[in-house]
Amino acid sequence: MTIPDKITLLILDDEKQFTEELNGFFQGSEYESFEANTVEEGKNILSTHTVDLLILDVRLPEVNGLDVLKEVRVLYPAMEVIIISAHGDMDTVIKAMRYGAFDYLRKPFRYIDIQIAIERTQKYLQMNRKLKQMEERNSLISKTLEEKIDRQFIGISHQIQEVFEQAITASKYPDANVLITGESGTGKENIARIIHYSSPRKDHVFCAVNSSAITESLLESEFFGHKKGSFTGAINDKMGFFEVCHQGTLFLDEIADMSLSLQAKILRATEEKVITRVGDTNTIRTDFRIISATNHDINRGVEKKKFRLDLLHRLNTLHIHIPALRERPEDIKPLLTHFVDIFSTRFNKPGLHISKEVLPALLAYDFPGNVRELRNMAERAIILCKGNTLGLHDFPLRPAAGSGPHERTRSVNLKTNEILLIQKALRDAGFNQQAAADALGLHRDALSRKMKKYDITNLIIAE
Ligand SMILES: Nc1ncnc2c1ncn2[C@@H]1O[C@H](COP(=O)(O)OP(=O)(O)OP(=O)(O)O)[C@@H](O)[C@H]1O
Ligand SMILES: [Mg+2]
Repeated sequence: MTIPDKITLLILDDEKQFTEELNGFFQGSEYESFEANTVEEGKNILSTHTVDLLILDVRLPEVNGLDVLKEVRVLYPAMEVIIISAHGDMDTVIKAMRYGAFDYLRKPFRYIDIQIAIERTQKYLQMNRKLKQMEERNSLISKTLEEKIDRQFIGISHQIQEVFEQAITASKYPDANVLITGESGTGKENIARIIHYSSPRKDHVFCAVNSSAITESLLESEFFGHKKGSFTGAINDKMGFFEVCHQGTLFLDEIADMSLSLQAKILRATEEKVITRVGDTNTIRTDFRIISATNHDINRGVEKKKFRLDLLHRLNTLHIHIPALRERPEDIKPLLTHFVDIFSTRFNKPGLHISKEVLPALLAYDFPGNVRELRNMAERAIILCKGNTLGLHDFPLRPAAGSGPHERTRSVNLKTNEILLIQKALRDAGFNQQAAADALGLHRDALSRKMKKYDITNLIIAE
């Protein structure tokens, strides 16, 4: 991350000749230095520049240098202070160290003395910054650790195989932004994690952000970070998402809900890869990839002028669409088995058996909540089930498509009916496929294809 090796110094001493000499000594060195001869001048510099180290004479004519020390320690806690005292002023030195000065020098001193004191401070500052960054990263990493485990993507349908292949391709292009679309619960975040953890960015942060969950007034500081004191409540310097995601991935969830002002800021940051914290003047270079997701029709958002076209172009270098679960019924069975495995282990109910009427009912269901709904269903069923068989009554399904308030698509009704009809015909024909096909007015091959599509074959074998 951005640890400036070049540190910035401010020399505050009322003796102009002294500050000039010292400042001259630092010119052309690895330090950037400023000089001030009054407290007011010093404060002006502190309010406009990020100073890492203040070299402060505690014997100033108009004010007590110790008071200045106390004040800057509160206002700029990340800045260290080396004080300069006169010979025989041990009392002041002791007080200054108590108030948090990092080191002291007695006048007169040699350049080498100040050089050594600065180098010590610099090492300390750098260690401190590294520690802070590690802490911020660790808190994010531990948050995502559990979710990291949930990275299996189950599915046998050709659609889901294609999604998986697209994700692997995306992981090989770690600088290309990816837009993932699909209904709620189809696994967009899951795919985003798979891309991140399969990419060269995997050892860095994956940060999932839902901007609609952040209040408008905090958005800028959350994304860009802020400098301490830049607004009420900014009690510390803080890194924003863009900075935390340096070398990692920023996952922007539900982008269709982003305000236009945030869209403009994100566009700029994405184009320039340089950000400025709120209340700061320094720019920070950061290298992040954006994976974004939406379950809305983002093109409609563009038409309605709610979403910027230029931002959409930036975000969808690669586009992955995850179809709804009802469009790929073959995935229901493997997903159900997977979730039953997970939750029977978690709730210590081994050897659970799924009764044979469960799968046809699930195949006939339209899953408005997609895989998330199936997962929750399996979890609830395992918690509620008594004995070692999961029965249909353990899977309370919402009213069938068309009868609910949503009036889901007609194709769902068609599909649902088709499955039920095939199952009935097979049952009536004593599972003789030719007889069932005849009864349905279908060619046997067509029946076979449909049975395969809806995973009906295995069902019969299971019976
Ligand atoms: N193919 C899959 N295999 C295994 N688990 C899946 C699959 N798809 C989704 N899930 C699981 O379903 C749940 C919902 O997935 P996820 O949160 O990724 O959906 P989403 O598309 O981001 O939804 P939303 O739009 O509501 O945010 C998660 O627990 C996820 O692990
Ligand atoms: Mg999501």
